[in-house]
Amino acid sequence: MREDAHQTIYLADYTPYGFIIDSVALQFDLDPHITRVKSAIAFHPNPEATDPTFLLNGENLKLISAKIDGKPVTPKFTAEGLTCDVPDGPFLWEAEVEIDPTGNTALEGLYMSNGMYCTQCEAEGFRKITYYPDRPDVMAVFTVTINGPHPVLLSNGNPISTDTHSAQWHDPWPKPAYLFALVAGDLVAHPGSFTTKSGRDVALNLYVRPGDEGKCAFGMQALKDSMKWDEEVYGREYDLDLFNIVAVDDFNMGAMENKGLNVFNSSAVLASPATSTDMNFERIEAIIAHEYFHNWTGNRITCRDWFQLCLKEGLTVFRDSQFTSDMRSAPVKRIGDVIDLRARQFPEDQGPLAHPVRPASFQEINNFYTATVYEKGAEVIGMLKSLVGDQAYSDAVDLYFDRHDGQACTIEDWLKVFEDTTSRDLTQFKRWYSQAGTPCLSVTEDWDHGKLTLNFKQHTPPSAATPDPQPQVLPIAVGLIDQDGDEVEPTVVLEMTQAEQSFVFDNLGTRPIASVLRGFSAPVVLTQDLSDADRAHLLAHDTDPFNRWEQGRILARKSLIAMILEGKNPNKDWLQGIRAVIGDEHLDPAYRALMLGLPSQSELARALAEDGHTPDPDIIYAAVETTSDAMAKSYANLVPTLYMRHTVTEAYQPNAAQSGKRALANAALSLLTRTDGGTAAQKQYDAADNMTQQLNALANLIRVGKGSTALQVFEAQWRNDRLVMDKWFGLQVTEADPEDAHEVVETLTKHADFNWKNPNRFRSVLGAFAANHAGFHHASGAGYRLLADWLIKLDPVNPQTTARMCSAFQTWKRYDANRQDMIKTELDRILAQPKLSRDTKEMLTRIRG
Ligand code: ARG
Ligand code: ZN
Repeated sequence: MREDAHQTIYLADYTPYGFIIDSVALQFDLDPHITRVKSAIAFHPNPEATDPTFLLNGENLKLISAKIDGKPVTPKFTAEGLTCDVPDGPFLWEAEVEIDPTGNTALEGLYMSNGMYCTQCEAEGFRKITYYPDRPDVMAVFTVTINGPHPVLLSNGNPISTDTHSAQWHDPWPKPAYLFALVAGDLVAHPGSFTTKSGRDVALNLYVRPGDEGKCAFGMQALKDSMKWDEEVYGREYDLDLFNIVAVDDFNMGAMENKGLNVFNSSAVLASPATSTDMNFERIEAIIAHEYFHNWTGNRITCRDWFQLCLKEGLTVFRDSQFTSDMRSAPVKRIGDVIDLRARQFPEDQGPLAHPVRPASFQEINNFYTATVYEKGAEVIGMLKSLVGDQAYSDAVDLYFDRHDGQACTIEDWLKVFEDTTSRDLTQFKRWYSQAGTPCLSVTEDWDHGKLTLNFKQHTPPSAATPDPQPQVLPIAVGLIDQDGDEVEPTVVLEMTQAEQSFVFDNLGTRPIASVLRGFSAPVVLTQDLSDADRAHLLAHDTDPFNRWEQGRILARKSLIAMILEGKNPNKDWLQGIRAVIGDEHLDPAYRALMLGLPSQSELARALAEDGHTPDPDIIYAAVETTSDAMAKSYANLVPTLYMRHTVTEAYQPNAAQSGKRALANAALSLLTRTDGGTAAQKQYDAADNMTQQLNALANLIRVGKGSTALQVFEAQWRNDRLVMDKWFGLQVTEADPEDAHEVVETLTKHADFNWKNPNRFRSVLGAFAANHAGFHHASGAGYRLLADWLIKLDPVNPQTTARMCSAFQTWKRYDANRQDMIKTELDRILAQPKLSRDTKEMLTRIRG
């Protein structure tokens, strides 16, 4: 096959596999360079298949021998793997291959990480382990033997035997190959146990490298909480005697839900107060829950093909966000999720990478583990739930588990359980899965003698993926607040299905203010014709915590945009409105901390571009600085009190109550530092006994140009802790002055500990750089060149991480002609690399447009 002849795969072309697998036996003889994998796979013809070709996927494998029913065969090799003549009835395929775990820097398949063996098979990594039908609709029961001189030898399911240097595992649940896992090495276990609601005792283990034992307790507790929550809320019980989690330092993503053997990026599971921030703890709790919840939504019921990825990911993200809402504060979680959606999903949905939640085609599936599939996919579930109601949602999900347990399913199967439960026709709703683009929703009002009419219009901008978008079903949660600040109409969910539609509220005394899209009930861009005074009124009185925050955010954005475009001063009413909220001791500190946040620079760039302006990164940066200074001045007599009152003095706990206080105290510290020049920050740095306070203090010191000593002290203290050093690298880039950010990056990449082949370390520097908006978009183009250089260097080593980081360029058409030209030059320079990976090539070709 020619290097550049990358094939596009279409959802419409799906056909079932020609064979059914009765059993799989694998044997691994581990060696860092030459690992032998023996496979014995029993097949029989699939009566439902139309194509009887026997195809096994394989990549980077050295075939040593192949037999069918004991007789040697000579297969034909293809671009995808191999094919071979087979008997008409059942037969046994046996093969022996050699693979090189050490040479596997792509971190897909079987690879080495700091001396331990581990695997990542989703999406198509199993084909790098042995020849196999590597597709999720082929499910089988696996028995695995591992031979190797390591104290810990793990695979999926339950252990049948473990000797020194040899272990046998059996997983009774049929699974697709992407859920296979193997781990071997010199690991230590942090044990735990859980008794399920029907009384089954489950042994739990968190396996880590020696030295990391002290970072396991929180993850173990999060696992138990997740197991309990899934029983209580979804009625789902765990189904093996054992559940193992392994922490790995080299990992492309967050974590992986392999059956009974979850593998985690160490950053997504290891935690201790001294080394992890409150945000780290919350993220770890959510990821542990996410992977655990996959046991039902993903593993017991899996995906028919990779186009259905959102079937497991959207649903599982939705479930983990419900979990976090229950464990912590629901409004704070919702606001955080919306900030994240706007930061990551909106730019994707509104740019050249736009794709539907269920894409219709792809070249490299790894490029579709996106914010659209995950986060918009979860929003779609949330909308479905608010349309049908909580009871019907729960009934439909029960039916889904009953009807489809053990199957590989589609979005059609998922929607059908809702149709059967509610008798609703979800034909139009299904557009959420097939149309790309963020709908724009606008609302105007008519007021007439006690009658308020809300007139909505929706329109989705066309994109390459969806040239002719049709109206979506939009659940629009609305409440009404009167002039006294009382709620005169509690939340109702309006169901919009047309391009234009009006809804009437009758029998109202005085004219109320409409609180629209409460809880962000649909992932749209809302334009509401409200005066600043009305928004300030909602900021003060809205009973919906999301919309209350949202009005503050909109006023902040308008104030910033007026400053950017017209040089205006910060809006006084907004400053005052926020002041009242942050000073209100009846409100949750975490919520008040969110109220002090400003839209990010790239969000402002997006808002400007949406209104037809060309964003200038330097002017945006300056406006955010000026506005922050204005906040610091305007709140100067409140900030020290806020800071003192919310500085936690009790022993550190990573719970919602304490972390909310720290969030508010640290938000106050950022303002305080703007007026005291870093005195309070230095004090906090010196006294800090936890990473949340240490890191925030350090950030503030860097911001006022007083970070160099603290950075040295920090490095000396933490040089042996990989995860903390990722923060040290990242923070210097995040906090760098845009003018010299690219130089900071260049210096850091020359640091002895800049191990660029480690994805966490690479992202901590280059990923942080792409997020330093004004630094990355420096007018000289130095930022673009620097990132491109590193992507070119990383691509042959790790295509997946390279391809993901290409999205730094996805917004390029927003900017001025000069910047566009410079970016185009860099995109073309990368694209011209002779052996560019399929991953990176697909991403850049789509971005280039
Ligand atoms: N299923 C995993 C999760 O959602 C993500 C793994 C994706 N990995 C990949 N290489 N595409 O947690
Ligand atoms: Zn997932």
